[in-house]
Amino acid sequence: MLLEIEDVAKSFGGLQAVSGCTFSVEKGSITGLIGPNGAGKTTTFNIVAGVFGPDSGSVRFAGRDVTGMPSHKLFGMGLVRTFQIPHEFGHLTVRDNLMTVPSGQPGERLLGAWLAPAKTRETEDRIRAQADDVLEFLKLDRVAGDPAGTLSGGQKKLLELGRAMMAEPALILLDEPGAGVNPTLLEHLGDMIIELNRTRGYSICIIEHNMDMIAKLCDPVIVMAQGAVLTQGTMDEVRKDKRVLDAYLGGSR
Ligand SMILES: Nc1ncnc2c1ncn2[C@@H]1O[C@H](COP(=O)(O)OP(=O)(O)OP(=O)(O)O)[C@@H](O)[C@H]1O
Ligand SMILES: [Mg+2]
Repeated sequence: MLLEIEDVAKSFGGLQAVSGCTFSVEKGSITGLIGPNGAGKTTTFNIVAGVFGPDSGSVRFAGRDVTGMPSHKLFGMGLVRTFQIPHEFGHLTVRDNLMTVPSGQPGERLLGAWLAPAKTRETEDRIRAQADDVLEFLKLDRVAGDPAGTLSGGQKKLLELGRAMMAEPALILLDEPGAGVNPTLLEHLGDMIIELNRTRGYSICIIEHNMDMIAKLCDPVIVMAQGAVLTQGTMDEVRKDKRVLDAYLGGSR
């Protein structure tokens, strides 16, 4: 297993957002994480991605205990996440948004400029080539020089995915990549996620409320409700599970 979440709990004040949450993401899979609003999905991603540690429980990534490890370290290990709400730098160009993604080698950019200017240029050329490759893959090459703030909501979602790709990740956590994306772009986004998985070997875990997208992309699907895993299986299996329907009808806490 690439990622193993074991009995994780997290509360905010008196609110138990996640408790007794246990599941795994298999290497090479596109794993879906679904459940009603407030089920604790984003909180679980935040714990895994090192935004904050859990109150209890553990997270293992690539065979290492990474519980409470800060996000920049996880990033360097190849575990990256995207945000439910895109957080691009609006005044920077689309390409620069990709080029400013940290490389996983601390100090490479800043310190390098002092110690070895030629090497820095080489590094910058390499990063630029990588950014252009990502932009071409996402079909954002035509807007590469535009300020990111001028992109449509859907294009910002693609850029968010592009920032994750810059890390050459082993595992990407995608938080609602389909939210606010128009149907045509959604189709394109789904195809690209599948291609990233098949051709670049990324393992992917997706939180998504669009069930068609989950059905098309994900196996297995993990269902969370009230902070814990309710059930898991193929989309067909969880779809037939009455407890899943009840959880959705029950809505948020
Ligand atoms: N930083 C926080 N401070 C206080 N409460 C929080 C915080 N983050 C999440 N919560 C609460 O924890 C619970 C779980 O929230 P979370 O965002 O993990 O749910 P979710 O499954 O991602 O929901 P959605 O599908 O609506 O995005 C909710 O009741 C939410 O209000
Ligand atoms: Mg959420």
